[in-house]
Amino acid sequence: LDSSSGDNELNIPPVLKSDSTEETKYTVRAKMGETEIFDGTKTQTYGYNGDFLGPVLQFEKGETVTINLINELDVGTTFHWHGLKIPGEADGGPHNVIEPGEEDTIKFEVTQEAATLWFHPHPDGDTSEQVYKGLAGLIYIEDENIKELDLPDDYGKNDFPLIFQDRTFDEDKQLNYDAVMNEDGTVGDVSLINGTVNPKLTVGQEKVRLRLLNGSNARNYTFKMNTGDTFAQIATDGGLLNEPVEMEELTLTPSERAEIVIDFSKIDDERDVALVNDSDDILLPFEVTDEAAAEIDIPDKMNQFSVTEAEKDLPVTKEVELFGMMDMVTINGKKFDPERIDFTQERGVTEVWEIYNKPDMMGGMIHPFHIHGAQFKTLSRDGEAPPRNERGWKDTISVSPDETVRLAVQFNDKGVYMFHCHILEHEDNGMMGQIKVE
Ligand code: C2O
Ligand code: CU
Repeated sequence: LDSSSGDNELNIPPVLKSDSTEETKYTVRAKMGETEIFDGTKTQTYGYNGDFLGPVLQFEKGETVTINLINELDVGTTFHWHGLKIPGEADGGPHNVIEPGEEDTIKFEVTQEAATLWFHPHPDGDTSEQVYKGLAGLIYIEDENIKELDLPDDYGKNDFPLIFQDRTFDEDKQLNYDAVMNEDGTVGDVSLINGTVNPKLTVGQEKVRLRLLNGSNARNYTFKMNTGDTFAQIATDGGLLNEPVEMEELTLTPSERAEIVIDFSKIDDERDVALVNDSDDILLPFEVTDEAAAEIDIPDKMNQFSVTEAEKDLPVTKEVELFGMMDMVTINGKKFDPERIDFTQERGVTEVWEIYNKPDMMGGMIHPFHIHGAQFKTLSRDGEAPPRNERGWKDTISVSPDETVRLAVQFNDKGVYMFHCHILEHEDNGMMGQIKVE
């Protein structure tokens, strides 16, 4: 990955305004656009309500949200709410295609706790290309608990969303998906954060919260500070951790999120400080100003996540075997069939899913396993307790070759939901199954 030269101030996505002052009502349009990613050239892109990527949608736990979905693309698309507990018919999976020029409205109640989720298209076989061209946005859920906690939450000031994506641009600086598409997952040499190439972020000498989304099609990121300083992870995909976990580095596979807090008052601002990846490529250089805000004390106790003894004792009732590479990927030996239901589960009932990544002759690769419509608990990795920073709600979990991961999964709503590998090209190549929740 090319290192960022830090020439461009990071783009901060707008927060979408409700269409109504009385209730939360959004209009989300998938559209085609032109974006000046590189100075002086226009790149053809897709975006939600704009030319590239999308705005932040804010939901409040307990409220009813209405979203008007409009497809202004020239291809069919869906609007999938990744990580959201939502009835199957509104989930935006491959069965919910909206044809070009058409629209639809969904309405649902927000039942889950504060978290950073995201939304993206999910049409069968075309997800990877549509995301690649720019369809992705964030969802922030808020609740009473998080509002009472002392956390950096001043949007765009000490609380920043960071959507990490890697892309390949052709000579004309276009995103030519067909030319670069790789069956095992399309990776690029250009790093974009929130759609900004060569970004830098200006921060004060204070605690800064970064909401990280690996929004890449296939690349895994291992984040660390170039200074060797640690940071605190405060949230997983689906909510706050019980306590901040001090981390030297953090790996996110595609679609995983984490919230971290970096204390810039403890880092010498004379040094070049940056977020880098495991090859020390500079992802995001920081410019630290002398501005210092009121001291925030991250609370030791932030949430009440727990795995109960009863959950630990549950037998495995769903087995999932991930296998393969390129277009030879399967789940339990099968490829996705929109007509086939692979599993059923009762709503409100917890079941243990055992996910095994079966190596192939080449050794295999990590598959990020995702379940729609639920936030799950990680019970174990190869029989051991999960690392401290995975002891929180998750909707996507990395599974390494020959590794077995056990999850406690419960659905809140009814409907048909997908479960799949979140390497988008694997998903499009059929590494996906369906569960019917009754
Ligand atoms: Cu992020 Cu099936 O989705
Ligand atoms: Cu995969």
